[in-house]
Amino acid sequence: MTAHTETEALRQDALRYMFPHRRGWIEMAEEGGPLIAVEGKGIRITDSEGRSWIDVNGGYNSVNVGYGRAEIAEAAREQALKLPYMPSGTTTEPTIRLAEKLAQITPGSLSRTYFVSGGSEANETALKVARAYHRRNGEPGRYKVISRRNSYHGFTGGVLWMGGGAGVRDDFEPAYPGILHAPQPVSYRCELGGETPSECAALCAKAIEEMIEFEGPESVAAVIGEPVAAGSGAPGDEYWPMVREICDRYGALLIADEVICGFGRTGRMFAVEHWDVVPDVLTLAKGIVSTYLPIAAAVVRKEIADAFGGEENKLTHTLTFSGHPVAAAAALKNIEILEDENMVENAATVGAYFRDQMQGLMGDHPIVGDVRGLGMLLQVELVSDRETKETFPEEAMLRARLNEGFRKRGLILRAAADTMSIGPPICITRDEIDEIVHAIDLTLWEVEGQLGISRMT
Ligand SMILES: Cc1ncc(COP(=O)(O)O)c(C=O)c1O
Repeated sequence: MTAHTETEALRQDALRYMFPHRRGWIEMAEEGGPLIAVEGKGIRITDSEGRSWIDVNGGYNSVNVGYGRAEIAEAAREQALKLPYMPSGTTTEPTIRLAEKLAQITPGSLSRTYFVSGGSEANETALKVARAYHRRNGEPGRYKVISRRNSYHGFTGGVLWMGGGAGVRDDFEPAYPGILHAPQPVSYRCELGGETPSECAALCAKAIEEMIEFEGPESVAAVIGEPVAAGSGAPGDEYWPMVREICDRYGALLIADEVICGFGRTGRMFAVEHWDVVPDVLTLAKGIVSTYLPIAAAVVRKEIADAFGGEENKLTHTLTFSGHPVAAAAALKNIEILEDENMVENAATVGAYFRDQMQGLMGDHPIVGDVRGLGMLLQVELVSDRETKETFPEEAMLRARLNEGFRKRGLILRAAADTMSIGPPICITRDEIDEIVHAIDLTLWEVEGQLGISRMT
C-alpha cells in the first residue's frame, strides 16, 4: 500500500471506531480529518503523509518542553522495565521524588501531593479536599464552590459544572449541587463595567466577596480559578491578592487551577508567583510531564493537609493510576529539562516578543480586537467592529475561514468562536515565532479579503 492509501484506511478506522474530542466525525470526515500525527521535534510534527506542521497549540497547550525529547522517553522506559506499577499503599522511588520536587518548587507551604492522571481528576481531587477539610475543621456546612463564568476546569462529572456554560453542560443535567459562578475578570469585556484592568480586577474580586456574603460564609468551601486563563488572559494585578485576602477573611479555601498555566507557560514556574499568592490547593497537569504520559497532581498546603492526618481523618480517595511510577519518572526528567534549559525564562522573554508581534498585526488587521496573555499563553479576540467590539455573525463563517487558512499554511491552530488561543511549546524561538506570525498575517489578509473588509488606514 502507498503511504496515502494506508493513511486513508487508518483515517476511516478513526472515523468509524473513535469518539473525537468535541467534534462531529461527519464534519471531520468532510474536512479530510482527522490528521494522523506520526512524529514530532521541537514545535513541529509530521503527519502520516509526510507533511510538516507547526503546532501553535502545543498539544493542548501542554507539550511545554517540545516534542521529541528522548531523555523523557528513556526515563520512562527505564522505569517501565524496572517496575511498571505498584498501587499506592506501597509506593515507588520516582513517585516519592516527584512529590518531594513539587514541594520544593511550588510556593509557600504547598507540600503534600495527591497524584492523578489528568487535570479534571486533579480538580475533582481539590474539590474533595476542600469539602472534606472543612468537615475535619468543624465546619461541615461548607460545601459551595465559587468558580468564574467562562472558565474551564475539566470535563468529568463534577468539575464540568465549574466551567463552561450552555452548550457544553446541557446534555449532562442535573447540575452538580453547590457550584456558583462569579464574573471572569477580562478587562476587554468587563461585565461589571471596569474600564481598566485594575478597575475590572477590583470589581470582580469584590463580586466574589459579595457572593460569599450573600450565600453565607459558613456555606462556602472554596473559590477556584485559573490564575491566567487560556480563554481570558491574566487579570489586573489587584485580582489574585484581593481574592486570597477575601478567602482568608471568610475561611474559604483558594484553589488555583494551573493545569495549563503551570510549569513555566506564563513565564514563571507557577502563574500565582506573578502576584506572590499561595493557594491552599494547586492543581497541576499537562506541563508537569509535557503530556508525554498521563500524570497530574493536586498539591495541598501543609496547614490544610495536616487535617487529614490519622486513620479517622484520612482522605478517602483511591485511583488505580494514581502516582504511576513510569509517568512520575518521565515528569521528573521533564522538570529537569525545564530547569536546566531555562525554558521558564524563555517563555517570559520570547512570549513577550510573541505578544508584541501579534499586537503589531492590529495595525493592519481591523478584525483583531484584542491581544492579551502572559508568557506563552496568549489569546486573540476577533471583532467585526473594533469600536463597538461586536463579534461576527455566524453567517460570516469566520472560524471556518480562519481554520482553513491556518491549515493551508501548515499551522495547527484552531480558532474557536471569536478567539484564538495560542500556547506553543515554550522552547520556541523568535525565528519560529516570526514564521507563525507571518502565516497568521497572511491568513488574516485572506479572510478579510473574503469578507470584504478593507485594511486599517
Ligand atoms: C485550566 C484547565 N483545567 C482543567 C483541565 C482539564 O484537564 P484534563 O483535560 O487533563 O482532564 C484543562 C484542560 O484543558 C484546563 O485547561
